[in-house]
Amino acid sequence: MRQFWKWGAIGVSVIVIVALAAGAYVYIASEQIIAQRYPLSSSHIHASTDPEVIALGAHLVRPYGCADCHRPNLQGTYIADFGMRSRNLTRLAQTLSDADFDHAIRRGVRPDGTSIAESMPSDSFQYMPDRDVTAIVSYIRSLKPAGPDIPPPSYDLKTRWDVLRGTKKVVQAWFPLQRPAIDVGPRYARAREMAMSACGECHGTALEGQGGPPPSPPNLTIVASYERADFLKFMRTGKAAGNRELPMMSAVARVRISHLSDAELNALYDYLSARGRKLTGMAGPH
Ligand code: HEC
Ligand code: HEC
Repeated sequence: MRQFWKWGAIGVSVIVIVALAAGAYVYIASEQIIAQRYPLSSSHIHASTDPEVIALGAHLVRPYGCADCHRPNLQGTYIADFGMRSRNLTRLAQTLSDADFDHAIRRGVRPDGTSIAESMPSDSFQYMPDRDVTAIVSYIRSLKPAGPDIPPPSYDLKTRWDVLRGTKKVVQAWFPLQRPAIDVGPRYARAREMAMSACGECHGTALEGQGGPPPSPPNLTIVASYERADFLKFMRTGKAAGNRELPMMSAVARVRISHLSDAELNALYDYLSARGRKLTGMAGPH
């Protein structure tokens, strides 16, 4: 009996020591990724109080998804798909400088130089022009700070294990995978910028899609096969050509893209169809 207790105690101790060692390993190894510092480039962004600039920002936060993930009031919320909360941007405005906002939006880096989590798609905002970043930051600053502050995501042991085996990433991991969308001429410049910021999160900034079985986001060359009226209807109502309701894109169109103006949607169609024709060698009206 005594032997039994003795070996039992040794067994339990071994299990405890192995568990502690494994926990320590996961913590230390994941900390290498989570605490890594990224160099901060200088930023030229200066928020403005010009009503026109603020109005542009208020307009862009919808198609660019900020209002979707951070809520229309930009006060942040729990996002079940990511298992984490987005931040309260009206509260962050009290502590972040204009440069800090720029680094968060286009570089995915916090003021202390660490990476933001991959759920915030900074990699797809990396080609956003200064004009749009300035407008968005100006709009955030025009809002009254309201609602509870939401801290950055915390990394418990389970999340750290996911980071270690790569099923959860920091957004820096995505930057090298993005490339700019092809340029098909100066008259399409603005629509090309907007497509990268509004569609890049899922279709990639090159707009080439993510591959894999449907319903993965396809290469946006598909727009070349859309009639203009069908594309506009799709972006406004979520009903794709043939009146199809798509698993994800229909809601994305309604919640985000439908807020673009007619002129912007037409320009987007012009760019995406010109790009599609160029890449597929398809003949077209222009
Ligand atoms: C797909 C969802 C999603 C979209 C789209 C999105 N965000 Fe976020 N954002 C998040 C999440 C989640 C976090 C928290 C992640 C973290 O801090 O690691 C976050 C964090 C941030 C932060 C905090 C950075 C810091 O310093 O800690 C800022 C600023 C921010 N987002 C601004 C924006 C702006 C501006 C836009 C639109 C141009 C935008 N976000 C679009 C999900 C999103
Ligand atoms: C949040 C992710 C997301 C964003 C942002 C997004 N898409 Fe999509 N899109 C998808 C997915 C996923 C599909 C595949 C169908 C599905 O699952 O809904 C898709 C499919 C499509 C299709 C194919 C429709 C068809 O006929 O089958 C087009 C065209 C399209 N998207 C255009 C756009 C454009 C243009 C933008 C930007 C203005 C955009 N998408 C932004 C996720 C997204």
